[in-house]
Amino acid sequence: MTRLNPGATADTLDGLRAFIGPDHVRADAESKAIYGRDWTRLYPPDPLAVVLPGSVEQVQRLVHYANERRLALVPSGGRTGLSGAAVACRGEIVVSLERMNRILDFDPVDRSLTCQAGAITETVQTFARERGLYYPVDFASRGSSQIGGNIATNAGGIKVVRYGLTRDWVTGLKVITGRGDLLDLNRGLIKNASGYDLRHLFVGSEGTLGIIVEATLKLTRPLREPSVMVLGVPDLNGIMAIYAALRGKLDLSAFEFFSEPALRHVLKKGLHRPFDTETPYYALAEFENPAGQATDEALALFEGCAEQGWLADGAISQSEQQAKELWRLREDISESISEHQPYKNDIAVRISRVPALLEEIGGLLEREYPDFEVLWYGHIGDGNLHINILKPKEMETATFAERCGAVSERLFAALQRHGGSISAEHGVGLTKKPYLHYTRDDTEIGYLRAIKRVFDPNGIMNPGKIFDAGLPG
Ligand code: MLT
Ligand code: ZN
Repeated sequence: MTRLNPGATADTLDGLRAFIGPDHVRADAESKAIYGRDWTRLYPPDPLAVVLPGSVEQVQRLVHYANERRLALVPSGGRTGLSGAAVACRGEIVVSLERMNRILDFDPVDRSLTCQAGAITETVQTFARERGLYYPVDFASRGSSQIGGNIATNAGGIKVVRYGLTRDWVTGLKVITGRGDLLDLNRGLIKNASGYDLRHLFVGSEGTLGIIVEATLKLTRPLREPSVMVLGVPDLNGIMAIYAALRGKLDLSAFEFFSEPALRHVLKKGLHRPFDTETPYYALAEFENPAGQATDEALALFEGCAEQGWLADGAISQSEQQAKELWRLREDISESISEHQPYKNDIAVRISRVPALLEEIGGLLEREYPDFEVLWYGHIGDGNLHINILKPKEMETATFAERCGAVSERLFAALQRHGGSISAEHGVGLTKKPYLHYTRDDTEIGYLRAIKRVFDPNGIMNPGKIFDAGLPG
């Protein structure tokens, strides 16, 4: 990979220190190692420096400065991403938004808040809860992921079946474009039919068009006393049948699944089986159950699904604490397997296509990975499957990545036949870039490149992520 910012000198950093402050421009090895990587851990971090601006004005000045000197920038949130979009491994300057982490405004009538891009997801969720409201975009990395990063990847998570993705909750955005212009997009409006909605271009743009500096987010009422059920399922198709049965009768707020091998990893970390029966797969359903009113319906559905042979056992939470414990069986999987350097697939198809896709790729994965541990889990209620391949201890990372890459081509070809996406929620970044054409055809990628040129003509914004833009950077 070509190294970026070849012309940068000590003067370049001094110039940055002059307007960002000496303590907020860092070039020490530790800062570079921490801020240069995300949770993929695949690319050795190697940024030129890390800058931590403290205001919108400083971000804007930084982008102007970078344009004048043709400096490549990598916008950086909580770096919990899983596709390498926030990685700086080619001498880029990392722009961390972590100092810009305040909630700036709240309006109970609008039911919305405005925050700086570096606000932590959980801080926003807690802020809303303390005011009797709810920010429903939720996932296991809530304690460190930042709102700006969530928007830049259109983060999904565990409540999408009910609430949709990050995109559905962003009613306003302030961004500094790659040209250095400040755009104030949509300003919290619910309705706005005044032409192209540029806000949505920035949602999922992975830092390639500019830097998100502020966001206005919609809030909603909290869930009413949710209960959680974990169900033991003999085969994957049964999960979809259960989903169809439950969603007609219960107010579902989540429908997730995981396999027995995935469960074993969290059990090794000290969690307990939800019930004695071992089944190849498990479904987790969360539903509103105020004053236990939905419990009888849930139990009747359970019986009905058991009679059909779709499930073999199950457990239902009796308290908030039990609901949390059941959730951990699913939510802790990602962290519990991180030591095995998993190769992550984050694929999506329309819900109706899930059974046919599973049929096709199940066999493919068994044939292609007889010697690897393959773990299935994810947000099956959204048509989103995470298929994780664990690296055998003795295998070189490069060899492992090469073997997985070869299988990806075949997996994605199958996905393409089913009209799916190579990334449901993790983004393209670096890891999925070689496969983008399985989801977007050349004509469409041409339009993406053209949009990139408008917002970032010098190619300074996160170069080499999502696609190669063919720009100077
Ligand atoms: C999850 O659903 O657990 C997250 O997307 C993280 C992962 O896929 O490992
Ligand atoms: Zn996920």
